[in-house]
Amino acid sequence: MTTIATRTVREIAVENPATIRVFENLGIDYCCGGGRSLSDACARANVGLESTVEMLLEAQQPHPTDGPRLWDGARLSVLASYIEDAHHGYVRRESNRIFALLARVAARHGDTHPEVLEVSSQFAALLQELTPHMMKEEIVLFPYVTKLEAHFLDGAPLPSACFDSVSRPIANMLADHDDAGAVLARMRELSGGYTAPEDACTTFRGLYQALAEFERDLHQHIHLENNILFPRALALENAVLKSQLALRMQ
Ligand SMILES: [Fe+2]
Ligand SMILES: [Fe+2]
Repeated sequence: MTTIATRTVREIAVENPATIRVFENLGIDYCCGGGRSLSDACARANVGLESTVEMLLEAQQPHPTDGPRLWDGARLSVLASYIEDAHHGYVRRESNRIFALLARVAARHGDTHPEVLEVSSQFAALLQELTPHMMKEEIVLFPYVTKLEAHFLDGAPLPSACFDSVSRPIANMLADHDDAGAVLARMRELSGGYTAPEDACTTFRGLYQALAEFERDLHQHIHLENNILFPRALALENAVLKSQLALRMQ
């Protein structure tokens, strides 16, 4: 108990991806705020530490259905492609559907439920940030990391870059993730945790369900980048620098 309580939420989620569902269910931030210890995170989310540990241990048991994938040891190029296909693809597809639902619900229920209008403008702001953010990852950061890995592992040419260290674009992406996390938290607050009001029609309920799912996916997406891809890209850059130094010393 003491050991797991002092470990960071990030470490637990990276080592045992099956625990992510527990964190999601309890409202524990495992992506942008993943650096907190489990006991701090439980206190922040106002949930009991002991019951959380029990749920985490339960989630770690082997389960017959497919859980989230363990990425430690996978090539970064594979992880980056997965993020693009699974998560960037999801944001692009699902945001169009959510915009259409928001427009219908806002037009029909905006006068009696003005919070929907605010949720709608927050979602638009989120997408306005996510769209260029994903493009920067796809055009600059992910290809650079993929080429750097190919250089280190396969002897491919060292890639050129418009930055002196990969830590620069990563710092920008981390700041964007924090902003996105704050907008998600605001939307959750406005919608009462995506609880549809009693008089809500099917479209309204479908909208809140879709937004809750969008939030869950974006948390997993940011977790893969903040807690696995970016730290490993920084370690890779370090390893490349060290091997260059060793070559020069010969
Ligand atoms: Fe991304
Ligand atoms: Fe990102």
